[in-house]
Amino acid sequence: MERRRLGKTGMEVSVLGFGASEIGYEHAPPATVERLLGGALDAGLNLIDTAACYADSEDLVGRAIGHRRGEVFLMTKCGHAGAEFNLPDWSPSLIVRSIERSLKRLRTDYLDVVQLHSCDSATLRDGSVIAELQRARDRGLTRFIGYSGDSDDAIAAIRLEVFDTLQISINIADQEALERVLPLARERDLGVIAKRPIANAAWLGGRFGGDLYSLPYRRRLRKLAYGFLKSPPQEAVATALRFTLTAPGVHTAIVGTKRPSRWEHNARLAARGPLPDSEYEAIRARWRMVAAPDWTGQR
Ligand SMILES: NC(=O)c1ccc[n+]([C@@H]2O[C@H](COP(=O)([O-])OP(=O)(O)OC[C@H]3O[C@@H](n4cnc5c(N)ncnc54)[C@H](OP(=O)(O)O)[C@@H]3O)[C@@H](O)[C@H]2O)c1
Repeated sequence: MERRRLGKTGMEVSVLGFGASEIGYEHAPPATVERLLGGALDAGLNLIDTAACYADSEDLVGRAIGHRRGEVFLMTKCGHAGAEFNLPDWSPSLIVRSIERSLKRLRTDYLDVVQLHSCDSATLRDGSVIAELQRARDRGLTRFIGYSGDSDDAIAAIRLEVFDTLQISINIADQEALERVLPLARERDLGVIAKRPIANAAWLGGRFGGDLYSLPYRRRLRKLAYGFLKSPPQEAVATALRFTLTAPGVHTAIVGTKRPSRWEHNARLAARGPLPDSEYEAIRARWRMVAAPDWTGQR
């Protein structure tokens, strides 16, 4: 598995990471997650992304890989509270509570990156949430701090010059970041984590065969009508994944799945390497021709 340096963090991360929202929201059984993550770690995975608000995700990850903590970089997110930790809440005092809960659930005494989860630019500029996050880093609860979000908020976050990493939507149906955000991130040597990296496989139906979450991508892809989406499903997934990993400045793609064999399968697709220039540029050109001004980065 190819590894890339995650910007100024210096962490050498697998180009295929693991996005742990789906296992939480879709209540994957613990034994399935153990098989999934155990097999993936054996095959070269070394980066897992989760969040306090992804239902039981942190707990499932902690159970599955807590005993292999030294083999993996763990990233989580904060910015939610409430009994289920699913309500956005930017009260500064909640940041450390959220991080301490994440540490417990992930069965570790430090995190590699804690990210602000879709924090709006007004809250970012106010500064008190960031100050709390920095205090948590200074206490050793996390090694690095990051921002997870899109579009104007992501640009505002980068310009503050306090974050080590940026997690942002980048895929065949979501290319705003390639033009507006990644150049700024590269100038500052931020580690870039592509979320939703295969556009939720929306052209194959999305989660539950047609959910609201992937609906914007399904609509966009109908208009983009890329020819390669007519090829056999796994060929099209390969092109979508390799597109994201070819984009200049992307270090890792955190594809989500709840299926045990999927990570190894996707690792083989990623191992085919960058898309040839002509294929990459054709996807970029089609986007430039078709994308509407309101096709901004999806949360
Ligand atoms: N910060 C944020 O606000 C935010 C927002 C969105 C996402 N994220 C992060 O990004 C991660 C990934 O995002 P995502 O899961 O929404 O999108 P994604 O990785 O683009 O797509 C995941 C979907 O693709 C399917 N899939 C994966 N490999 C496949 C293959 N080879 N063939 C066919 N289908 C395949 C999965 O289904 P199966 O289960 O059937 O494999 C799943 O439904 C999340 O887990 C999370 O960590 C963060």
